Amino acid sequence: MESKSSRNREWLLANLFVLTLLILMASRTSGSAENSTNGIARTLLPETKAMPSSLREKFAKQFLMGVALDGELPGNYNAAEHQLIKTEFNAVTPANVMKMVELQSVEGRFDFRRADALVRYAAANGQKVCGHTLVWPKDERTPEWFFKDGDKPAGRELLLRRMRTHIETVAKHFRGKVISWDVVNESIGDGTNYLRPSKWLEIAGPEFIAEAFKIARAADPDAMLVLNDYDFHWPAKRPRLLRLLDYLREQNAPVDCVGMQGHFELDKINFQDVEETIVEIKKRGLKVAITELDIDAVGRSKWWQEDGKYRDELSKFDPYAPACPPDVLARQAEQFAKLFEIFQRHSDCIVRVSFWDLHDGKSWLNTFPWTRVNHPTFFNREAKPKPAYDAVMALPMKTATPSKSSL
Ligand code: XIL
Repeated sequence: MESKSSRNREWLLANLFVLTLLILMASRTSGSAENSTNGIARTLLPETKAMPSSLREKFAKQFLMGVALDGELPGNYNAAEHQLIKTEFNAVTPANVMKMVELQSVEGRFDFRRADALVRYAAANGQKVCGHTLVWPKDERTPEWFFKDGDKPAGRELLLRRMRTHIETVAKHFRGKVISWDVVNESIGDGTNYLRPSKWLEIAGPEFIAEAFKIARAADPDAMLVLNDYDFHWPAKRPRLLRLLDYLREQNAPVDCVGMQGHFELDKINFQDVEETIVEIKKRGLKVAITELDIDAVGRSKWWQEDGKYRDELSKFDPYAPACPPDVLARQAEQFAKLFEIFQRHSDCIVRVSFWDLHDGKSWLNTFPWTRVNHPTFFNREAKPKPAYDAVMALPMKTATPSKSSL
């Protein structure tokens, strides 16, 4: 009897040991994508799939995963939001605090306090910082003093001198602290215009765009220089981007990367156009960054249609104020997943995918272009993942040429 029970004990202990070993290995493999290549784990546990636990881990071998952060840091975010920022993302973009109106609202008086706080915050989390933006050539996004020479309008020389001072001061200040700069933002025209009409264009001509890149390169030779814009995947707008890229190349302007903002609208994404545009950029030897990704759940394009005649009606339109319906969330999930499939296919040239704003409650699309309760991101107002997050996390893992090494 005694020997039988001791044999039983031994058998039990041996089984317990094997079980513990298996559990330990399973927990190691499920924690990280890299550990999935652990040969022993694969042999002993053929069915164990590495389950990445965050976006940054899931796409670690493909591109950086970024997010735009706004306002004062760390004060502008609560504990759950900080946790989300640290866990999911390895790059941050200042949504506003590095813009000209913030950094130099008065000529010659640079105020780097909020931008420096963002840089410190990112460094503490081991995250890269993507500078946004040196020049935003829209009149309403440029401080008024910039276009004035006393009582008169500023001339070309003065405007270009001011642009140089701004870019040099800012890019040198953040040298070594940012990995990239959106050098010129939104310079391509809407409607039928090749370039956006603005005082910048009127006073300085398109040369200001080429000049901005040259000045930025000299001020921070290590930063990846990005031409950033929206909607240029549209067939009508894409040729303008390509024309501008050709012009910039002729001018020897050092453009490294094209930033596709990626402000999409639910049910209105032409995936083929998006992919073709990425391919066109890739053909020109440039990198691509998806710089401001979101999918507007309450479509906004009608706002600009027919000379704004729908604006009164739209300003009262707030269909998802109580909650976002499950079918909308499901379509959004499917459409985000399709986009990420494209991004994965082209991860040899895509260096980064960044979301514009952390979660639905923080999105700029709750107020632009009218006030409504919007749901454009991966996370809800409690900073919890939505179906879109799950859909993208469930995409099959693809291993492609890493492109982030070039950053
Ligand atoms: C937006 C910010 O999110 C808002 O907070 C601000 O009021 C206006 O600018 N494209 C860009 C970003 O390049 O700079 C814009 O950010 C969103 C559209």
